[in-house]
Amino acid sequence: MTLQVLHDPREMRIVSEELRRDGRRVALVPTMGYLHAGHVSLLAAGRRRSDSLILSIFVNPIQFGPNEDLARYPRDLEGDLDKARAAGVDWAFVPDEHAMYPEQPLTLVRVSRLGDGLCGPRRPGHFDGVATVVAKLFHLAQPHVAIFGEKDYQQLAVIRRMVHDLDFGIEIVGMPIVREPDGLAMSSRNAYLSPEERKDALSLSQGLAAAEALCKSGERDAARLVETARAGLRGRVDYVELRDAESLETVETVAAPAVLALAVFVGKTRLIDNRVLRP
Ligand code: PAJ
Repeated sequence: MTLQVLHDPREMRIVSEELRRDGRRVALVPTMGYLHAGHVSLLAAGRRRSDSLILSIFVNPIQFGPNEDLARYPRDLEGDLDKARAAGVDWAFVPDEHAMYPEQPLTLVRVSRLGDGLCGPRRPGHFDGVATVVAKLFHLAQPHVAIFGEKDYQQLAVIRRMVHDLDFGIEIVGMPIVREPDGLAMSSRNAYLSPEERKDALSLSQGLAAAEALCKSGERDAARLVETARAGLRGRVDYVELRDAESLETVETVAAPAVLALAVFVGKTRLIDNRVLRP
């Protein structure tokens, strides 16, 4: 099937109802566009798991804080649609802001606790905005399965819990982080980096790798692992935290799988990365 582009949420709803009526298995990959190989890996996973693959592209204003990069978030719809075609996407859902939010929503989805640490307190309202838009996209596209990246580890945990708590009945698949050859986690925001900042950005994945190597050599102490990851970071560190990989509660030692997650401002650009450490 050739790629079809939909802009109107009502059209998306009609299409998804038809797909369901025809007994199709539907996969959804939600994105904010400016697609890179990380997004493409999610599309490939969606393709393998479905008969009909929907990609959504929507820069969701309600998940950005007042001092964040909403206005300058990179966009390239034509490039994205080329990549979508190559990845075998059937439907690209590309609503505009007014169509998604005809008026300010009075209803927000909040997943408590999971959103409390890590990026939560540093980006007030962010995960409410994410959970709310993903709930809307789920209602419009009505997928059987939805694919997300572990790059946004806390986001994935929040969405899994929302789907569980609110009985969405959608299978949530998490996919590994896709990295540049030198280790930098792919991100649409990497486009902001100057050549000098691009070098500093490498310190995130290198810090995580150093901590992982220490963990493999037998170190289990959270403070020492965090300190190791933090030591070489170049930029303004927002946080480095080690948390239980499932509950996202803080841990003192690596006794069960734990996620070492960090956020660093490299220049004006806030980058995140993480790695799961196993005992
Ligand atoms: P966006 O940042 O565009 O990311 C879309 C999806 O791609 C997310 O599931 C994210 O985790 C995944 N992704 C990003 N970089 C990746 C990488 N290097 N490797 C693997 N997967 C990667 O996340 C969002 O958009 C939004 O918050 C959204 C869920 C669409 C809600 O607005």
